[in-house]
Amino acid sequence: MPTTLRESQLPGLNLVHRGKVRDVYALSAAELLIVASDRLSAFDVVLPDPIPGKGEMLCQISNFWFDKTAHLVPNHLTHKPVETVLPPGTDASLYIRRSVITKRLKPVPVEAIARGYLIGSGWKDYTATGQLCGIRLPEGLRQAEQLPEPIFTPSTKAAVGDHDENIGFDQLVTRIGGPLAEQVREATLSIYGWAARFAAERGIIIADTKFEFGTDENGTLYVMDEMLTPDSSRFWPAEDYRVGISPPSYDKQYVRDYLETLGWNKTPPGPSVPAEVIAATASKYAEALKRLADITLD
Ligand SMILES: Nc1ncnc2c1ncn2[C@@H]1O[C@H](COP(=O)(O)OP(=O)(O)OP(=O)(O)O)[C@@H](O)[C@H]1O
Ligand SMILES: [Mg+2]
Repeated sequence: MPTTLRESQLPGLNLVHRGKVRDVYALSAAELLIVASDRLSAFDVVLPDPIPGKGEMLCQISNFWFDKTAHLVPNHLTHKPVETVLPPGTDASLYIRRSVITKRLKPVPVEAIARGYLIGSGWKDYTATGQLCGIRLPEGLRQAEQLPEPIFTPSTKAAVGDHDENIGFDQLVTRIGGPLAEQVREATLSIYGWAARFAAERGIIIADTKFEFGTDENGTLYVMDEMLTPDSSRFWPAEDYRVGISPPSYDKQYVRDYLETLGWNKTPPGPSVPAEVIAATASKYAEALKRLADITLD
């Protein structure tokens, strides 16, 4: 059975960050323990109700992709067993499927986005300017249309409460330097291309996705954080895909649609969500995990 954990409690460990979804503990100067909770954020606000098992699904799906793509780009996983670092008396079953021990890296301050399809903020940008993050695209593309080739569209990592902002490649170069910017673009497109082909064979379109990277003390680039999850990507079931509409995806759409009916002003505190919306959301995450990785958590 999936476990439910809204907030990790690991007394004695050094909590360095409680994000919207993950709790991050420093085990040493070199390693982190990252726990994926069942918190759900929508419109950048964390909702009061957890989605049971969501953190386990996110962690398992990320681990699956990290392993599958390790031949392309090194990743932050150490593969050390989590049980060994939990404080005495901890219920290990709550943590083992949702936690990883990782290398502690220096984050590259950019959201590295790969887009294969024209949707979301990319579609908005294109309809307004004919470009996407400064990249000129052919005329007459329609919503959700596949791009001639996947493109790299970096955005800033916004501070708490702020929204990310798309930037051009030249702005990325200014921020992090040309060689690192090139490496990040190359790594982003290489992982995206591989994963998109893999998913296509399983009937899923990866319309776009966001990666985070970090460097170690030698300057080696690693992919870190989470990878190719429904929270960081738009996954479209191929059978529902049509050009010209925004296809339904394996993400928080149920919750977002429900929240839109409330007239909530999208500032904290977030409203409570009915059990059936929670269950539908959990089953969407489970379906993505099953279809992509053939993993079932119960
Ligand atoms: N190997 C790593 N080394 C260093 N930092 C990491 C590593 N992997 C992930 N992180 C960082 O850990 C954090 C994960 O937390 P989470 O994604 O929940 O929150 P966030 O994105 O920082 O904040 P929020 O989602 O609340 O805006 C991120 O800041 C991410 O950049
Ligand atoms: Mg994050």
